[in-house]
Amino acid sequence: MNSKQVVLITGSSTGFGRRFAETLARKGHTVFATMRDPAGRNAKNASEIRTLAEKDSLPIHVLELDVTDDASVQRAVDAVVAQAGRIDVAINNAGYYLSGLEEAVTIEQAQRLMDTNFFGPVRVNRAVLPHMRRQRSGVLIHISSGAGRVVIPSGGFYCASKFALEALAEAYSYELAAQGIEAVILEPGQYETPVFGNTVRAADEARTNTYGAAKEIPVKVNGALSSTAGNAQDVADAVLRIIETPAGEKELRYFVGPQDFGLNEINALSKRVQSSVLEAFGLAADTKFLKGKAVGSV
Ligand SMILES: NC(=O)c1ccc[n+]([C@@H]2O[C@H](COP(=O)([O-])OP(=O)(O)OC[C@H]3O[C@@H](n4cnc5c(N)ncnc54)[C@H](OP(=O)(O)O)[C@@H]3O)[C@@H](O)[C@H]2O)c1
Repeated sequence: MNSKQVVLITGSSTGFGRRFAETLARKGHTVFATMRDPAGRNAKNASEIRTLAEKDSLPIHVLELDVTDDASVQRAVDAVVAQAGRIDVAINNAGYYLSGLEEAVTIEQAQRLMDTNFFGPVRVNRAVLPHMRRQRSGVLIHISSGAGRVVIPSGGFYCASKFALEALAEAYSYELAAQGIEAVILEPGQYETPVFGNTVRAADEARTNTYGAAKEIPVKVNGALSSTAGNAQDVADAVLRIIETPAGEKELRYFVGPQDFGLNEINALSKRVQSSVLEAFGLAADTKFLKGKAVGSV
């Protein structure tokens, strides 16, 4: 793989995605910073990114991509390949937080969350993989969360969406290793981005009101999450290090966070258990990505 890579990022309008775009482009990587509705609701964000790219001569191109829309995902991936001739890295970053007692989350809210946080990456991976397979190289990066490994009360549906993403990414990593394609999971702890302002609240207040003192759980959790948030640039620096790690040497999982809740321990244990599972199923030789490596911490 060429050291300067062609990178597609979802959810680049704000937060991590926007930082990934700038951080990677400043290192010479060609970035397709995708977002939904760059001519409408994200017009200001799109124009700021274009202005920055022009002012500092950065290789950033803004494209429309809504991860909940199959056709939009395919159009964006086609546009990247038409313009750059290839696609080396897809960063599945778009996502949002849903807060509230689980019983108060409506089915519609739960489905919408999964459609973005889980089916979004499913769509993106299915669109980019034929190109990566043709190239016999590529990296799928999944922005999960510490909450993709531990459970936060009142964040159960968000955790479920990230646990689901982790399972998908891990299965991909085993299946794609032999084709030179790596699937990587990055688990950020809590970081200062617009994510807290964009949080969706559980809609069924009548259910919430039956919970007595437990009604305060979401308030406590949200307060704790936002008051201990770290500098989001740390996550962008972690993505840069992952992308610049040579092919075949990347870890499956990376945790980065302002607080260590023992996530590295869970990941190390999981890796050992997974190794045994793969051995037992006679799959160890097909899944070389896992073998002989320490769990990453970036
Ligand atoms: N900040 C943290 O503490 C933290 C910790 C762990 C994991 N994460 C994860 O990091 C990722 C980025 O979040 P962030 O913290 O940077 O928050 P953010 O600033 O709110 O960014 C979320 C991004 O996702 C985009 N998005 C939402 N729905 C979309 C859709 N249907 N199609 C395309 N883009 C969509 C948003 O775009 P719009 O502008 O169009 O809404 C926005 O660009 C998320 O997956 C989040 O779960 C964040």
